[in-house]
Amino acid sequence: MRSRIVVLISGSGTNLQAIIDACKLEDYPGEVVGVVSNIPTAYGLTRAEEANIKTSVLSHKDFDSRESYDQSLIGVINEYNADIIVLAGFMRILTPEFVQYFQGKLLNIHPSLLPKYQGLNTHQRAIDAGDKEHGVSVHYVTEELDGGPVILQAKVPIFDGDTAEDLASRVHEQEHRIYPLVVKWCCLKRVVMQNDKALFDGEIIPLSGYANDE
Ligand code: GAR
Repeated sequence: MRSRIVVLISGSGTNLQAIIDACKLEDYPGEVVGVVSNIPTAYGLTRAEEANIKTSVLSHKDFDSRESYDQSLIGVINEYNADIIVLAGFMRILTPEFVQYFQGKLLNIHPSLLPKYQGLNTHQRAIDAGDKEHGVSVHYVTEELDGGPVILQAKVPIFDGDTAEDLASRVHEQEHRIYPLVVKWCCLKRVVMQNDKALFDGEIIPLSGYANDE
């Protein structure tokens, strides 16, 4: 049985697209059964509709607290009977209640080599710091913002004269490779979270995840 994947987005949804495309492969162990956006105009919703995937919009503007929003979001996700919830550019801070409710089922992709550069503007921050490499991390979501155990990272070089946009597009390319791969491992339960640690085939994954140097 294929795992039921729900993807949460706020924007363009290129990572969503990479996962939708991976799910088209005959032996991929999951299927995207729903896409939820907090932004009604997010282009990712169009991508989902074009792939005949159900969508839901839950605008944060209709709620007066983060807690009430997240409670409704739990309800929406539960309608899809999700096995795995994939945050793909879902630009909201989640409440502890939400994170605990879906503990072990929540994945996020973050455009930095965590634990470096949690939060926003990661590409510019890496350039400003004079870093020679940068990258992306896929991790389990815990209550600590961008702080959950990392499963896999991919690194990219930073070249002299790079702009944040140059770097973002180099990182994006890697995102589209590693996110479908990690989602696949989670569908197969090769990767699981236990006691706030990520395990791969029963072995604890090192703190900064497996590094994929391509
Ligand atoms: C991605 O680069 C992802 O790493 C980032 O948002 C972008 C979404 O792109 N996520 C974060 O910054 C989370 N803190 P997409 O909508 O094209 O997939």
